[in-house]
Amino acid sequence: MKALHLVEPNKIELVDIPTPQNLKKGEVLIKMAYSPINPSDLAFLTGGYGVQRPLPTVPGFEGSGEVIASGGGFYANYLKGKRVACVANNKGDGTWAEYMLTDATKCVVLSKSVSYEQASMSFVNPLTAVELGEMAKKEGYGGIVMDAAASSLSKMVLYQARKHGLGFAGVVRKESQVQELQSRRVDLVVNSSADNWKGQLKEWAGQFGKVLFLDAVGGGSLPFDILRCLPAQSKMIIYGRLDFENPPVLSPQDFIFYEYKLEGYWLSKTASRKSFLKSMSDTRKVQTMLKNGFETTIQKSLPLDNYKEAFELYSKNMSGGKVLFDLNK
Ligand SMILES: NC(=O)c1ccc[n+]([C@@H]2O[C@H](COP(=O)([O-])OP(=O)(O)OC[C@H]3O[C@@H](n4cnc5c(N)ncnc54)[C@H](OP(=O)(O)O)[C@@H]3O)[C@@H](O)[C@H]2O)c1
Repeated sequence: MKALHLVEPNKIELVDIPTPQNLKKGEVLIKMAYSPINPSDLAFLTGGYGVQRPLPTVPGFEGSGEVIASGGGFYANYLKGKRVACVANNKGDGTWAEYMLTDATKCVVLSKSVSYEQASMSFVNPLTAVELGEMAKKEGYGGIVMDAAASSLSKMVLYQARKHGLGFAGVVRKESQVQELQSRRVDLVVNSSADNWKGQLKEWAGQFGKVLFLDAVGGGSLPFDILRCLPAQSKMIIYGRLDFENPPVLSPQDFIFYEYKLEGYWLSKTASRKSFLKSMSDTRKVQTMLKNGFETTIQKSLPLDNYKEAFELYSKNMSGGKVLFDLNK
């Protein structure tokens, strides 16, 4: 089968490797349809991600396809012939291949209305949005503020914020992104490259007792500049490291005098602690969200052969939408 191989950090090759065989009980073989490039994939390719696998390995964390074989067991057998959204087993090869072997428990059956393209992105961002939205509501935050807010994830967090009756503000870095967010009718969008964005954010945040700040930038002074605009006892959750180059500029006094809280979030960890029933219920929430028009924008779908073009396109314009690998071509 055709696949991409990460042979060493930052070095990818198009390879022809044997299709996985000898499935064990509870495993399924999927004929892959689509798989996106996400920021977590880019981090994995550098070798600097929370999941490490011996090289060479097939990268790619999530995708969609049809289950064509089962290694036995009730759920794996049930999945045979079904259209599914799937994630890679952290110990095995990933989704950027024509076929993938994974655990049946890492697959979800698709409703007819969800396309293979959208389904290929139905784990990482949608589940994160569901979890963070529920956390904001449960912990009593009046609003959510996000940086890198032109992202696909922010669109879904906005849906969750509305669903839970919470305010939503976005911080972006380009004027074109301001317009994009205004078209989504967020409460407030500010451009961190423009003047007086901090004053506007502070005024908006002042209406709430405390605000949940979701930080995907993770470097430089921006995240802590944003935090300083928020009421005392607000919480910052670092869930991304889009700014790899600059170390974070943190001021300990802010945490002391304003009682700010700081946490990390990683879906892989929270997902591993979830019961099967809670996972199924979250998946249903995701499919409802997708049906309600909160789909991910797709910039382009390309075959594995065009992987260099795919990476370049996505890295140069992340806000333009996802670039998918079309695994049937
Ligand atoms: N921890 C978890 O479990 C988890 C789960 C899901 C997602 N995430 C994280 O969520 C973030 C968004 O993911 P996504 O799939 O929604 O991304 P996406 O749709 O590809 O969008 C990425 C966004 O980040 C912006 N960006 C990139 N580098 C930036 C920087 N240095 N400073 C400010 N903005 C920057 C891009 O703007 P430009 O177009 O201007 O570059 C773009 O709007 C990523 O960091 C991802 O790793 C984490």
